[in-house]
Amino acid sequence: MYLTKEEEQILNGEAGETLRQAIEILVALGDIYGADRLIPIKSAQIAGVSYKTIGDAGLEWISDLQGKVKVPTILNPAGMDLENWKRLRISPDFAEKQKLIIQAYEKLGIKCECTCTPYTLEGFDVGYGDHLAWSESSAVSYANSVLGARTNREGGPSALSAALLGKTANYGFHLDENRLPEILFEVEYPLEKSNYGALGYVAGKLAGNRVPIFHLRNSPDVDELKALGAAMAASGAVALYHVEGVTPETRRVDFKEPAEKITIEKKQLDEVYESLNKACKEPELITIGCPHCSAAELEKAAELLKGKTVSKEFWVFTSRGLAKRYPEYIREIEKSGAKVVCDTCMVVSPATNNYSCVMVNSGKALAYVPGMCGAQAIYGSMEACIKEAVGETTNKAGGSY
Ligand code: F3S
Repeated sequence: MYLTKEEEQILNGEAGETLRQAIEILVALGDIYGADRLIPIKSAQIAGVSYKTIGDAGLEWISDLQGKVKVPTILNPAGMDLENWKRLRISPDFAEKQKLIIQAYEKLGIKCECTCTPYTLEGFDVGYGDHLAWSESSAVSYANSVLGARTNREGGPSALSAALLGKTANYGFHLDENRLPEILFEVEYPLEKSNYGALGYVAGKLAGNRVPIFHLRNSPDVDELKALGAAMAASGAVALYHVEGVTPETRRVDFKEPAEKITIEKKQLDEVYESLNKACKEPELITIGCPHCSAAELEKAAELLKGKTVSKEFWVFTSRGLAKRYPEYIREIEKSGAKVVCDTCMVVSPATNNYSCVMVNSGKALAYVPGMCGAQAIYGSMEACIKEAVGETTNKAGGSY
């Protein structure tokens, strides 16, 4: 892998131990994946923020680093709402450690905004063709697919290394040839909003880590694309997908149709949720906002909760940036007794561990809650989740999603 003179000097430790370690990580990855050089990035997003997932070893590693990041950098969700952690029964010991992690990142010049939807934040713009070093799988999928930017699915240490250097190794999804569709999914019936999480759940398992292209009858909006990509990244390892006529690369690049074609039937989506929704019957906790709710999703939740009172714990996850920008939605949601929670999510917060049955409206949360929170999870649309929270009857076992 070619390194400039300055990069060689960094590798020799002439710019200090932190940058030496950072470039060593990027060069090692570049050598493994056949990168020719390092390329500049526009921004970084770093996973490995919750004390629940990185523990003391992670805290120690980040605390030892010196210097400042060279590009706008933000964090993935932490283990708690950083301003209002007590109301989800987070222990003071956990809170103390979590705050130390945030301080260690801030010392490196990283913006303390903890979200998996960095693309919704003001001042964190992403353009077509921009090279990024992002970590969180749904954010990576959204950046690559919906925005037409270019990022590999970075681990926490490699994203942080890229942020400190302002560069990443040129391999994988940074290159044109790795962005071509490899499998075609035909969906010949109209999809409803909540079907996109289900479709992603099915398609991700079939695609594995390949790049799928979808032929759909609908033209999904950005939140539907977000749900589709998040579920595919969780049930498979899809970091880039295309939707014919919708996502930007299909309009700029003349793709050859992949040889492998699969038709996804409606009954496959029904079957997935019917079988998964048998995990448990009575959710004690209902959560929405995986990935973090957009402004449109907050508006819809506020509208659906207007004049109602929740009778169960109901958490709505979003970024602090959006919560501050739309206080009217937050007020309306919280008037119902629901809690709007920022900086964290149902998967990376230890708060979810206090429950045994959780209802979610996300294919990704459905895949991760059982393994990471020790709770069973069932799925429903946002409408079904809200009905459950306010005590109206739902059909959790089937058609209502
Ligand atoms: Fe985001 Fe947490 Fe889901 S990081 S995509 S809300 S699992």
